[in-house]
Amino acid sequence: MTTVLKLGGSVITEKESPETIDEAALTAAADAIAGSNVEDLIVVHGGGSFGHHHAERYGASATEGTDDAAGVYAIHDAMGQLNSAVVEALQSAGVPAVPVHPFSLAYRDRDGETTLPTDGIEGLRAEGFVPVLFGDVVVQSGAGATILSGDEIAVILARSLSADRIGLCSSVPGVLDESGAVIDRIDDFTTVADAVGASEATDVTGGMAGKVQALLDVSIPASIFGPDGVSAFLGGERPGTLIVGGR
Ligand code: IPE
Repeated sequence: MTTVLKLGGSVITEKESPETIDEAALTAAADAIAGSNVEDLIVVHGGGSFGHHHAERYGASATEGTDDAAGVYAIHDAMGQLNSAVVEALQSAGVPAVPVHPFSLAYRDRDGETTLPTDGIEGLRAEGFVPVLFGDVVVQSGAGATILSGDEIAVILARSLSADRIGLCSSVPGVLDESGAVIDRIDDFTTVADAVGASEATDVTGGMAGKVQALLDVSIPASIFGPDGVSAFLGGERPGTLIVGGR
């Protein structure tokens, strides 16, 4: 049973203050992962206050690139620092976590199609490590470097590793409808398009709408849940919103 878990940047960082980790939330997530005893786990994390403002400063988004080497480095370096903090928190909790830097592996073509070789990641899993990847810059043909979100990485990995489950831990307890209630299940984007607005703080990769769309594109069931749902999700339950794509 292979599980891909993405920790949203807004969960593990203080999204409104630049490059600040939410230590309590990160420790809680690491403890939940350590306590779950999930055998075959891949962790991905987002950018929160480490990635998005650098990306915005250099004009980089999922579709707009930068050809400024200093910008590419600033975004990647900030994300690398957050990744170190996540790996360290997981190791402190007893999880055999190791870093994997997507920028060094991934490639995006002119049409935005992204390839992420997974031989090394599979090797790490086979050796009993828990690979920890993150939303990062990615070289894109003809555009310099664009942003590869953690959500997209989670989806790519779920597909290429034939994962059984994918979960996105967000700062809200699931996808919310207009009245603020958690939507149980989503099969079709059009039914929730009005409800899923843009993310409040700076987010260069699409907020909740982007998450739902990305997960509808995966053939395995996917869940979006809040920080309190990590243990339940890893324990096999379906906290928050279940997204059933099927393509
Ligand atoms: C963004 O990753 C990474 C960068 C801006 C470099 P995500 O889009 O997955 O981050 P969050 O989870 O929304 O913060």
